[in-house]
Amino acid sequence: MSPNKTFYITTPIYYPSDHLHIGHAYTTVAADAIARFKRLTGYEVWFLTGSDEHGQKIERVALAKGQKPQTYVDNIVQSFQHLWARLAISNNDFIRTSEERHKKVARALFQKLYEQGDIFKAKYQGWYCSPCETFWTEGRLREGKCPDCERPVELLQEESYFFRMSKYAEALLKHIETHPEFILPLSRRNEMVNFIKSGLEDLCVSRTTFSWGITVPFDPKHVIYVWVDALVNYLSALGYGGEDAGLFRKFWPPDVHLVGKDIVRFHAVIWPAILMAAGLPLPKQILGHGWLLLEGGKMSKSKGNIIDPLLLIDKYGVDAVRYYLLSELPPGSDIYYSEEALVNRINKDLANDLGNLVSRVLGMVEKYNMSILKRPLPPDDREKADQELITLAEKTPLLVEELMEKREIANALSVIWRLISRANKYVDETAPWALKKDAAKIKRLNTVLYNLTETIRFIGVLISPFLAETPARIWEQLGIKERPELYSWASLAWGRLPVELQVHRGAAIFPRIEEVK
Ligand code: ME8
Ligand code: MG
Repeated sequence: MSPNKTFYITTPIYYPSDHLHIGHAYTTVAADAIARFKRLTGYEVWFLTGSDEHGQKIERVALAKGQKPQTYVDNIVQSFQHLWARLAISNNDFIRTSEERHKKVARALFQKLYEQGDIFKAKYQGWYCSPCETFWTEGRLREGKCPDCERPVELLQEESYFFRMSKYAEALLKHIETHPEFILPLSRRNEMVNFIKSGLEDLCVSRTTFSWGITVPFDPKHVIYVWVDALVNYLSALGYGGEDAGLFRKFWPPDVHLVGKDIVRFHAVIWPAILMAAGLPLPKQILGHGWLLLEGGKMSKSKGNIIDPLLLIDKYGVDAVRYYLLSELPPGSDIYYSEEALVNRINKDLANDLGNLVSRVLGMVEKYNMSILKRPLPPDDREKADQELITLAEKTPLLVEELMEKREIANALSVIWRLISRANKYVDETAPWALKKDAAKIKRLNTVLYNLTETIRFIGVLISPFLAETPARIWEQLGIKERPELYSWASLAWGRLPVELQVHRGAAIFPRIEEVK
């Protein structure tokens, strides 16, 4: 592995104000797919997720439950970690903002910006949305409410510290203009450009009216604004500024901050301005995906209209849930969640297309050749259908790589499913059951079965960043579980599957779901 092929991807650190729902699961599963894809294609990856534990909102929730904030978050954060384990998330670290390793970096950064004059004290007069943990000036309110979530805001009058964000507006606009992939998709980028052009005010970065947060090192009446605290997680998790900053040296700057569109502004405006002030390289990309909606609008913890991913995993399995999320959400737009759509995806794409291909093909190898993979005819004897299938199989990894570079996960999956469909069509075109009846066509039969089994191996490798459990079941059925060299990315060269291999047809990898209850 070449030492400079590193890749650092993050999810938002979610608020433990309640349990997570499938909206959060979407972001984390999508980041996981990108992380797994990068690992598969030879990168050394650091994949970070975590929890954003401070702030007024969390303090209020804990108080309402009669708990100390720390006790409250300790408990609920376990449920985050449990969910990620159930979803087979391959994160390398989980950062909690209440950890000392985080707090000391946040304090040091705050101190540095204060000493260099980028943070200063002044009187704050304005409005605060506690659910969004966001400051608003009068002019940005919509009918007196939070312009993001439309909930009531509270009047704040505190002496506070401010960050000189306005000073970085020019440089930030320039950076956005000269780095077209800095904010994706394009619609988000345009929003951010307009937002900055409409005037960046200095940002209030401390609070005095509650205490659940990181205290300002030089003025302990104040706690650091929760968004500044939270954003610093991307640095603190790498040990920035500490004695052991090996991870920081290796992985900074982030390649992708994957976030929902609700928090692009914090990542694409506030965060880069702070990093500029700190003299640090900016993240390469802020990727802001759309929302999963339910009837009645965005799924949200505070609205209570949520779908629990654990229930779906129990009912349909982890790969069905991962596949649904990854294949349904196109970049840049929202979708309505429905269990019916989930079941349709399972039945059509997973059970019919993928599951049937594997069981049909291995069933025929079992039945016609006693489960032994026989030698195919040499390439000169390939027929048109063979050549089409092989060409598509060889081309698909390149297409997938291209789409994943553009972060078009759903499109990458459709390209893989095109290969699956082509293979299913090939079964119908070549009709192995008819070949079997003709003794003169045995070599043709063996060729067809080889081509199909080899295509299944390609498909298994291609789906491995997206589905967590299915690839291993395919390797088992192909009889190559102990031979990882046959399912690496580099193994995607046609004809690697050894002849005389013994396959093991197993249970259906995706049983059909009969009806939605
Ligand atoms: O904003 N559809 O945390 P949060 C799609 N702590 N994605 C959704 C979603 C939905 N309906 N609902 C939530 C915070 N998400 C801060 C982040 S980062 C330094 C601090 C996902 O718990 C999406 O990624 O409110 C969104 O941006 C994030 O959860 C918000 O999570
Ligand atoms: Mg939120």
